[in-house]
Amino acid sequence: MKPMTPQRRIQLIALPLALLGLAIGVLLMSFDPVMIARRSSTSSIARSSRGNDVPVPLMVSFTSDELATIRTLAPLPSPPEDPTNAVALLPRAAWLGQSLFFDPRLSSTGNIHCGTCHDPARWFVDLLPVAQTIGVGNRNTPTLLHTAHSRWFAWDGRADSLWSMSLLPIENESEMGGNRVAIVRLLANDLQLRAAYEAVFGQIPPIDASRRSGLNLPREARPVVDDPQDPMHVAWESMREASRDTVNRIYANVGKALAAYQSLLNDGGSTFDRFVEGLSEDGLTSTDPMTQGELMGLKLFIGKAGCIRCHSGPMFTDEEFHNIGVPPREGKVPRDPGRYRGVELLKRSPFHAAGFFSDGRESSRGIISESLVNSPENWGRFKTPSLRSVIKTPPYMHNGLFNTLDEVVRFYSTLEGAVQLDHHQETVLEPLHLTEDEIRDLVAFLGALHGPGPPDELMGPPRRPFGGVAATSSGDSNGAAASP
Ligand code: HEC
Ligand code: HEC
Repeated sequence: MKPMTPQRRIQLIALPLALLGLAIGVLLMSFDPVMIARRSSTSSIARSSRGNDVPVPLMVSFTSDELATIRTLAPLPSPPEDPTNAVALLPRAAWLGQSLFFDPRLSSTGNIHCGTCHDPARWFVDLLPVAQTIGVGNRNTPTLLHTAHSRWFAWDGRADSLWSMSLLPIENESEMGGNRVAIVRLLANDLQLRAAYEAVFGQIPPIDASRRSGLNLPREARPVVDDPQDPMHVAWESMREASRDTVNRIYANVGKALAAYQSLLNDGGSTFDRFVEGLSEDGLTSTDPMTQGELMGLKLFIGKAGCIRCHSGPMFTDEEFHNIGVPPREGKVPRDPGRYRGVELLKRSPFHAAGFFSDGRESSRGIISESLVNSPENWGRFKTPSLRSVIKTPPYMHNGLFNTLDEVVRFYSTLEGAVQLDHHQETVLEPLHLTEDEIRDLVAFLGALHGPGPPDELMGPPRRPFGGVAATSSGDSNGAAASP
């Protein structure tokens, strides 16, 4: 299609539209006086007597190029397949994952679960600048809505799959402080969890030594790479290699079940999604859910403000890592190495996409992780976060520095306090020098990117007990988690 200037488009659509309006007006008047009365009391959405929407021009005009760009941001498709997780779509795995997600027995203190920080009542975040449970972390908690769309996980991308990411907080000493051997014990001893686990992954071997082929597990153990003297590590090293492999296998499966549950989490579609859905070829709309300010913000977002350079596609992220110079929080030195350390951690994880426990070592995910090379430029880079649901998940940035979206947009406007790095600094950002109106509009647009939230049955532990091993393969291929 030939690009048109806004003026020309308005001329083009104005006349036919006026005629159309007139014709409909006459029709409505002669056949359905009630509709007329209702129409005049509502918005600019015109409805014919058959209930069909009659498109009206947008309050803000967009060129055909802009319209094409807008259509790259929505709708959000289903999450991509994850070939490294063979059970990602199994409802029974999701039931197990949902149980484990809200189970405080995964923590060393017995009172922390994933939902403590990723709180369903708070849009799957904690609303804190940085996470805080057993200890205080140094990163802001991201929402888990739509997380299955991500290419890399955590601000530094130190995990390359949702299932391997899900294992990290369990053994992190300042988050849940748990350990994989205790989790195998839990799975073996809890009847419900055991039934669910075995229905998805097969039998858990006997865990004590008194049984033939028993795993002979210590009470607690996990590898502690940085501290071989740690009692947990000593206990881990004391185990037979075959037992360690089995424990690792079960632990990886726990991550895969957690991922199956999280793959179901989405916010049900945003105002912006509805807007794009109602958008016709030539920039007319039949459902004008967005306000003028939000539309002006959208125009800036994809145009002058250049946000879409990084916040692109239906997830509003390029899935890349950038250093945009976010200042450290007070007194926080040394700075967070970001992606640089993320690559190091990924490469040494036994659970990455090309590793022994991946179901898709030959997949592109596996191949890319295998060949990933670190470079000094990665220092201080962080993942471009998705902006879906963003208004619900303050504070913002990897370190939770900004409390409001207004503060974030002002940062992009002035780059005040931005950390100037050495010669590796990307020169991607220039101060935007936005007007007060532009700041307000951009913030308004960001506020239109959330939906109603996930259905109730995903907002806590499963409501129904596990259907049991008897509930075999039927219904495995699709359907919701809550009913395995
Ligand atoms: C102490 C609070 C806390 C707990 C408990 C916690 N998380 Fe997180 N989660 C975080 C923080 C903070 C990050 C960001 C980590 C980083 O970037 O270093 C994160 C990141 C993630 C991500 C990556 C999201 C993304 O968009 O990159 C996933 C997935 C995740 N957590 C899942 C879980 C699961 C599953 C559990 C339970 C097994 C869990 N989390 C427990 C705080 C927590
Ligand atoms: C050069 C790429 C780039 C551009 C251009 C860019 N961003 Fe970002 N954005 C990022 C990165 C990277 C982060 C995370 C930075 C960090 O935490 O250190 C981020 C973070 C954010 C956040 C915080 C989200 C959260 O959950 O914490 C918001 C909001 C945001 N950007 C909005 C915008 C807007 C609005 C624009 C246009 C004015 C814009 N961005 C332009 C890369 C970019």
